[in-house]
Amino acid sequence: MDVLFLSPAYPPEMASFTRGLVDVGARVLGVGDSAPESFSPALRGHLGDYLRVPRILDEPDVIARVHHWLGGRRPARIETNWEPLTVLAARMRAAFGVPGMNESATLGFRDKPLMRERVAAAGLRVPRSARVRTRGEAWEAASHIGFPLIVKPVAGAGSADTFKVEGPGGLDSVLDQLGHVPEASVEEYIEGDEYTYETLCVDGRPVYESVSQYFPNALVARQNEWISPIIRTIRHLDAPPVRDGVTLGRAVLGALGMGTGFTHMEWFRKPNGEAVFGEIACRAPGANMVDLMNYSGDVDLFREWARVVCHGTCEAPTERAWSAAIVFKRAQGQGRIAHVEGVDAFRRRHGAAIVREELLPVGAPRRDWKQTFLSDGNVVVRAPEDSEVLRIATDAASALQLYAR
Ligand SMILES: Nc1ncnc2c1ncn2[C@@H]1O[C@H](COP(=O)(O)OP(=O)(O)O)[C@@H](O)[C@H]1O
Ligand SMILES: [Mg+2]
Repeated sequence: MDVLFLSPAYPPEMASFTRGLVDVGARVLGVGDSAPESFSPALRGHLGDYLRVPRILDEPDVIARVHHWLGGRRPARIETNWEPLTVLAARMRAAFGVPGMNESATLGFRDKPLMRERVAAAGLRVPRSARVRTRGEAWEAASHIGFPLIVKPVAGAGSADTFKVEGPGGLDSVLDQLGHVPEASVEEYIEGDEYTYETLCVDGRPVYESVSQYFPNALVARQNEWISPIIRTIRHLDAPPVRDGVTLGRAVLGALGMGTGFTHMEWFRKPNGEAVFGEIACRAPGANMVDLMNYSGDVDLFREWARVVCHGTCEAPTERAWSAAIVFKRAQGQGRIAHVEGVDAFRRRHGAAIVREELLPVGAPRRDWKQTFLSDGNVVVRAPEDSEVLRIATDAASALQLYAR
């Protein structure tokens, strides 16, 4: 089975999805703008063919080049797990007569106001929000929604250009900073804990589900360099704090007409327990969350995603033996990593719980923590109890320190 997979090398975990496709018997036709010379030998071995295009986001150009390259071959699937390409994949399916989610359904996972409209129309709880194009429209929306509120791009990712505005005095300066964004969403600020809900779906039916919690909420983690953000999976999805989020998530999938593949939803749990929809994407989560889910369930969701997409089945057991947490570290200072503190003592305290240590070595240049959630390294820990994992992860957040010079 030929699978045309968009952007097989970027972001880096796409190479693992490429491998997953090969594991389930597919031949991968990769299309991307990365130079093949930069690919790992493993990725090169997994690509049955590769078309390098000059600009992967230039949709008409990519479609024309792929048309020429395929020369009448018709892949059985056209897939991507990278957010900016989800609509392109849908358009390519239509252009080449390949089954899979159509453009309208895909847009419901990409355009935040449209997403909210569709989810709200199904009677589900979403933040009040409005799509705005001008300063006047933003002020008009704010007068209905009230403060505090959130302003963010319609098609954002990674909390980029997302702002919390505490009161009327702060709105204009935020709008100034959003001058380059053609359309923004102004919305009610939801106070509460932030969780995710991931699925592998077959024709909209979840065959694998997972819930994680962010510590702290993603926006706060993105705006404060000194924080070591933690993401922790929840072992039992029928536990009361998350059960309502799972129910909400399943309903959202129905409301948006999910097809087959990965989904990644964010939702809030208010202090009164109410689950409120945040956003959803029809692709795998980033921030190493697929790895985290794999550690939590002793599964390989790179491969199971491929199985779902190619064969409509999932072989991963849904019972989890672990709760797992990833802790992202940001070094203090600029330049190159000069020394790392606390690792030996942390290993002595929690050796059995540590399943991965990927801290940048001494001498490595710091990564841009604003650009990549992966920052200057991460540690993954796991244990049978959610609370125990959080305790260990919190210890990693404070005890492990990287210093740059
Ligand atoms: N209505 C809201 N209320 C409270 N926090 C919000 C709201 N919208 C966004 N946020 C915060 O901002 C972050 C980024 O917004 P999100 O809609 O997830 O956009 P992105 O596509 O950038 O991930 C969220 O993870 C959450 O922490
Ligand atoms: Mg988000």
